[in-house]
Amino acid sequence: MERILAINSSISGEGSVSRILVEDTVQRLLEAKSGAVVIHRDLGAAPIPHLTPGTVAGVRAVATTEEELATRLLSDGLICELQQATVLVIGAPMYNFSIPSSLRSWFDHVLRPRVTFAYSETGPEGLLKGIRAIVIQSRGGLYTEGPAKVIDFQEPYLRQLLGFIGITDVAFAHAEKIGFGPEARDAGIAHARSQIAAAVARIVVGGAAVPNQAEG
Ligand SMILES: Cc1cc2nc3c(=O)[nH]c(=O)nc-3n(C[C@H](O)[C@H](O)[C@H](O)COP(=O)(O)O)c2cc1C
Repeated sequence: MERILAINSSISGEGSVSRILVEDTVQRLLEAKSGAVVIHRDLGAAPIPHLTPGTVAGVRAVATTEEELATRLLSDGLICELQQATVLVIGAPMYNFSIPSSLRSWFDHVLRPRVTFAYSETGPEGLLKGIRAIVIQSRGGLYTEGPAKVIDFQEPYLRQLLGFIGITDVAFAHAEKIGFGPEARDAGIAHARSQIAAAVARIVVGGAAVPNQAEG
């Protein structure tokens, strides 16, 4: 049975492009995979607190204080959601050339030594296995081609974060030029939808994600 973890991180509520596309993706997966279950986590509406000196030991050392133990519990819960998932769908708007801080905070809680990654003699090893991911990136501008391509710190960063914990089968969908007026916005969304359809089709037939080589 397919278990879908759908994560939104936009702070723009119902008008969010990535949110619309995450919902589209989930619907497509549900139509294709009967009996699939979905867990939704909305980091825009319910942000995860950033780590502080009072909480960091909860994820990176031994939790002893009440604050640290609460952070450990939160981290355990978020990791459990991820470990249960067979498909991860992430809505990731571009904020200041990278990812929203709420999404970064989620990663700060799920990248846990000896739980989701470990260091061995051959280097770091991701401990999450068998999760396929579809990442939807909404952007005001154009980054898959042209002069701004070199300042896309969003996609390489997301690929690294996910790969570090073992999620290497990742398909990216791009909704770009969202800030260029209604026509460009519609075209950007349509383009992302076609990439999502292809990514879902690959999951349905059990194939691996094909990196978006043509786009970068
Ligand atoms: C705080 C903030 C920072 C942003 N930074 C960028 C940026 O660096 N590059 C860009 O192309 N668009 C940027 N945008 C525009 C968003 O990427 C764009 O509106 C996108 O549609 C947001 O996704 P959403 O509709 O799912 O919220 C920014 C928007 C906000 C609110």
